[in-house]
Amino acid sequence: MTAETGRAPIYEVRDLVKVYGRGHPQPVTAVDGVSLDLWPGERLGVVGESGSGKSTLIRMMAALSRPTSGEIRFFGESIVGRHERELAVLRRGVQLVFQDPRSSLDPRMRVADIISEPLRSRIWRDAERPDPHQRVAELLVQVGLPPDAASRYPHQFSGGQRQRIAIARALAPRPKVLIADEAVSALDVSVRAQVLNLITDLVARHGLSLVFVSHDLAVVRHLCDTMLVMQHGRVVEAGNSAEIYADPQHPYTQQLLASVPRLRRTS
Ligand SMILES: Nc1ncnc2c1ncn2[C@@H]1O[C@H](COP(=O)(O)OP(=O)(O)O)[C@@H](O)[C@H]1O
Ligand SMILES: [Mg+2]
Repeated sequence: MTAETGRAPIYEVRDLVKVYGRGHPQPVTAVDGVSLDLWPGERLGVVGESGSGKSTLIRMMAALSRPTSGEIRFFGESIVGRHERELAVLRRGVQLVFQDPRSSLDPRMRVADIISEPLRSRIWRDAERPDPHQRVAELLVQVGLPPDAASRYPHQFSGGQRQRIAIARALAPRPKVLIADEAVSALDVSVRAQVLNLITDLVARHGLSLVFVSHDLAVVRHLCDTMLVMQHGRVVEAGNSAEIYADPQHPYTQQLLASVPRLRRTS
């Protein structure tokens, strides 16, 4: 907690390590000693090439994967090694949006059921559970989809619209933290900006903290206050995203930035 503000971080991650294939001839250390704080309202970008450990890091933060070692505190409580029934606060408070809505949205479910699914979980005490019908209607408006979308199926929508459905589902339980893992990477360039703007607006409107994972440094600079640059599971550079973009210190960050198309660097 800081003395000036009395605020505490939402997440405190310390020395987090994930080794895949322990005991096998060639184990992979996907995350290798990562520490970070995530503050209320902070928009944190996690950048790095494919295979740098970004998804592994956020999966551990969302308690979808167990760390090999290290600590993760969410609102001051350790979440490492907890039983599922002890993770209700985390399950309501942290929601994810993935890269490919085709595989993350169940094709047999209507949009209304997809969006309200997080509200049907047993993690809710009935008194706290938002009304699913009302929530679906509100959320369709917020993500810019028509009311009749509720009774349709994912395949009846474009890629950008499907990502709007995924965002609506993520917001349904009124989370504190939204984690987006390459959430716009699979979209056409023309649609990408619209979905990025939607995420920006919704994060601001609801006062969410954002963890935005991307291999694209320019997008992260546009969207995020702070960033972590990951290489081989380690954080090689961290700080204010505009400053890092303007004046990268680590050779790896400089190399990532050099691969960003020129037109976008000057914007
Ligand atoms: N379930 C898994 N089993 C074994 N290795 C994995 C698994 N998931 C990821 N890895 C490996 O861990 C490293 C980091 O992967 P990942 O976290 O997906 O990186 P990123 O999201 O930055 O592309 C890669 O070498 C990847 O092959
Ligand atoms: Mg990934």
